[in-house]
Amino acid sequence: MTETLFRQLFYTSRSVPGVDVDHILQQSRHNNAVDGITGLLWHDGSHFLQVIEGPESSVAATYARIAGDPRHTDLSILSDRAIAVREFGYWSMERATRTLADGEAVLARIERRLAGAPETLRQAFAAATAR
Ligand SMILES: Cc1cc2nc3c(=O)[nH]c(=O)nc-3n(C[C@H](O)[C@H](O)[C@H](O)COP(=O)(O)O)c2cc1C
Repeated sequence: MTETLFRQLFYTSRSVPGVDVDHILQQSRHNNAVDGITGLLWHDGSHFLQVIEGPESSVAATYARIAGDPRHTDLSILSDRAIAVREFGYWSMERATRTLADGEAVLARIERRLAGAPETLRQAFAAATAR
């Protein structure tokens, strides 16, 4: 039996001042829908935290573009693993920010989604979003 594996990459970065997150999301949703990428983009005003998941070649190409983007610096990969089932599969790129009225609900939902993820990944997420 052949099992389909996806690659899931999880990183944080520091955003440059005045970054237009809506514009990034617009670009991301368009490209990701074409490339079979799903995930989540968290922004708290100074840092990004993003999960991208999908076929290995799509994730590699997308991350290469993202890593070269001058709208953020200091990228740090927190987790890079193979997964059998998408964990953020409902969104071509879900937005999550602390400024949303339902910010806490979004966090709770993400934590539920990461329930099966390795402890190290969940801890990294908790640390990044607690800043
Ligand atoms: C924090 C951050 C997250 C991004 N996430 C994505 C993404 O999920 N998918 C994507 O295609 N581009 C993403 N981008 C944008 C890419 O770096 C790049 O600008 C874009 O893919 C180029 O698209 P275009 O060739 O259609 O103009 C992101 C950029 C930043 C700064």
